Amino acid sequence: MPAAITIQDVSKSFSTEGQPILAFGPADLEVEEGDFVTLLGPSGCGKSTLLLMIAGLLSCTTGKIVMNHEEVSEPRHDIGMMFQDSTLVPWRTVLGNINLQLELRNLNLDEYSVKISELMESVSLKGYEHLRPHELSGGMQQRAALCQALIHEPKTLLLDEPLGKLDAMTRENIRKDLQNLWMNEKPTVLMVTHSIEEAVQLSSKVCVITPRPGLIDKTIEVKLPWPRDLDVKRSQMFTDYMAEIQEVFQGYGVI
Ligand SMILES: Nc1ncnc2c1ncn2[C@@H]1O[C@H](COP(=O)(O)OP(=O)(O)O)[C@@H](O)[C@H]1O
Ligand SMILES: [Mg+2]
Repeated sequence: MPAAITIQDVSKSFSTEGQPILAFGPADLEVEEGDFVTLLGPSGCGKSTLLLMIAGLLSCTTGKIVMNHEEVSEPRHDIGMMFQDSTLVPWRTVLGNINLQLELRNLNLDEYSVKISELMESVSLKGYEHLRPHELSGGMQQRAALCQALIHEPKTLLLDEPLGKLDAMTRENIRKDLQNLWMNEKPTVLMVTHSIEEAVQLSSKVCVITPRPGLIDKTIEVKLPWPRDLDVKRSQMFTDYMAEIQEVFQGYGVI
């Protein structure tokens, strides 16, 4: 598989009170097309910083990032992004928020009406089209944000702890939807999470990052069968992957 994202010697330093402080890296990483890679690491190790650099929203201090054969040098419009906090605009309806992604890219709304309808159906948002964000639960807001991230059919999805603030049951349900969407459309996904269980359940590869300044210490290929439903999660192999990763974090002294 060709590389969808190549990260070469990338680091980021921030200037704090005139002093440069290394926040991430230097690190190398290759994400193959259609891979679902999670970045798993303690708070403050630079995970969000790395995603912002990949999206072209923050410059690298050293190194370079190549996405879909192009060096990243400005904000990318060909990706879908999702964050822990909803980025829905409050004055637009759910449908209006999804349409916003198309409007910003000068895409024809009519051409996407079937796709919008299918996407909303696939994340159980049918019937909620005309509600505004404050009328939705946190889970519904994140489902709408997922539609926003996917509507323009990006090849690459960057997800920054998208399910981090949701209750356990909602999180489990949206994980299932996210897994189905990925299995059907096979975008390249790079997702930040702090949940070892979520990383093992959803990803083809887990990158374990050290405490700040984050270094990609270990990449673990997760060879569990798809779809990863409750039966897979109860398997010995699933527990073994969780234990392997927990041991790495125990070694850092963070758990
Ligand atoms: N704009 C900024 N200016 C200064 N320091 C920052 C800035 N953004 C992030 N940092 C620092 O960089 C480190 C990594 O941050 P972040 O990428 O948000 O970590 P993570 O997402 O892994 O929790 C943290 O120590 C944070 O305080
Ligand atoms: Mg973060």
